[in-house]
Amino acid sequence: TGLKDVFKDDFLIGTAISNRTLETQDAELLALIAQEFNTITAENCMKSGEIQPAQGEWNWELADRFMAFGRENNMTMVGHALVWHSQTPSDLFVNASGEQVSRAELERRMVTHISTLMERYRGQVHIWDVVNEAIDEGKGWRNSPWFNIFGNADYMERAFQIAHEVDPNAQLLYNDYNMHNPEKRAFLVDVIRDYKQRGIPIHGVGLQGHVGLDFPDLGEFERSIVSYAEQGMRVHITELEVDVLPVAWDHIGAEISDEFEYSDELNPYADKLPSDIEARLTARYVEVFEMLLRHRDKIDRVSTWGTYDAESWKNDFPVKGRTNYPLLFDRQRKPKNAYHALSKLK
Ligand code: XIL
Repeated sequence: TGLKDVFKDDFLIGTAISNRTLETQDAELLALIAQEFNTITAENCMKSGEIQPAQGEWNWELADRFMAFGRENNMTMVGHALVWHSQTPSDLFVNASGEQVSRAELERRMVTHISTLMERYRGQVHIWDVVNEAIDEGKGWRNSPWFNIFGNADYMERAFQIAHEVDPNAQLLYNDYNMHNPEKRAFLVDVIRDYKQRGIPIHGVGLQGHVGLDFPDLGEFERSIVSYAEQGMRVHITELEVDVLPVAWDHIGAEISDEFEYSDELNPYADKLPSDIEARLTARYVEVFEMLLRHRDKIDRVSTWGTYDAESWKNDFPVKGRTNYPLLFDRQRKPKNAYHALSKLK
């Protein structure tokens, strides 16, 4: 048994599967994942830049392996992500002569991308992150090539409509980070209300949940869960982990990757995580799960963004080359104190 059994009456419990795991077919890690989790997300292999690196050129191998593993273990599969501004094909927004494509052409490419990908896994990928990170808190819609070429945010509702046409049984989510932010919450609530009125098929909201030891205020996180649920949305916690390293968290959402350069000061636990920080990590996971359990009626799924510390993207973001400890299994893939504490919550 594993975490999936601990929370079986509450929500699905998931993880993300990395490209490395799929490339090496890491049997030991895959066995651990099958034991602990009942839902998996494709960490990178279904992103548009990976699965369709150039228009019309498809790379199915890793995604097919991801699907095979999920099917063998009867898991709920999550496709991530159909429309995003990051990790896109190099030629998505330009034509052969390097000029920006028209709105009509971008829409055509979006239809082809969504329908080709979703048709291949129709009935097998149960949940799709249809649009990822389209809102910039404080500023409204993100200023992305999608937004600029369309001239407005219509690309988002088109993406939901197309996805629903291709697989009417799939659960369709809008996914984003910093979903506790009151401005972002208010903006998204208005979008959902408008979509509902006009019959745009959106079924749920994914709160990524990249949290730190003190960030964010869990009360705000909780208010967001309640607000989205009040709009008829199912809530998914899609990319949970607890960053233990010093970070200027209030810069999240800005051009962070350019702002933070590596320094030893920003990487204080390179050799070992001190026991007092480990205790805070455990307490933070417990606090987050206790809050989520209070809203189990609204929440379908809680997924961590990876399984063990060595493989977390948080070792390289928003500062490259650090030693972070954000997940439930350590670098030796052993369950951490946080894992044991969560197991005792029920
Ligand atoms: C991250 C992956 O974990 C990394 O391996 C990759 O290099 C960059 O993307 N929000 C998302 C995820 O929706 O797709 C991101 O995943 C993390 C932030």
